[in-house]
Amino acid sequence: MAEELVIIQGSKEERYEALLPQIEALIGGEEDAVANMANVAAALKQTFDFFWIGFYMVKGEALVLAPFQGPVACTRIGYGKGVCGTAWKEVRTIIVPDVDLFPGHIACSSASRSEIVVPLISNQKVVAVLDVDSDALNAFDATDAFYLEKIIKLIKN
Ligand code: SME
Repeated sequence: MAEELVIIQGSKEERYEALLPQIEALIGGEEDAVANMANVAAALKQTFDFFWIGFYMVKGEALVLAPFQGPVACTRIGYGKGVCGTAWKEVRTIIVPDVDLFPGHIACSSASRSEIVVPLISNQKVVAVLDVDSDALNAFDATDAFYLEKIIKLIKN
């Protein structure tokens, strides 16, 4: 496909619905997980302009920073640490409406107020997480979880 994203106006659900087939087309023919993570992060940034969007990949005992869009961020997060490490440990999506109320939240940026973390699972194991941060409180809900889980499943690894 032509590498140009069509961004529609509308509700969050409508924008995810428009984005999903475009991400499928963009990454469906590519096997490389890092390349696909890079384009997924960029497509989400272009569509929603969230404060920070990116991946951490499981490497041994830690999550290590992978493709992202936004300000510089922490490079390593331990198992069970922060929201990302908790999503890894508990193998589930975590929505944090107010980061100040999440015990152990890791503040890579003081501007981040709410976040969602979605694990990428391969052979029953978490191999990476997608972290999306907003500078607004309560920015994420079940709609984001639903679509981000669909999007992350498109990434081969
Ligand atoms: N807030 C995350 C750390 C990653 S940064 O937000 C980019 C956490 O608590 O795991």
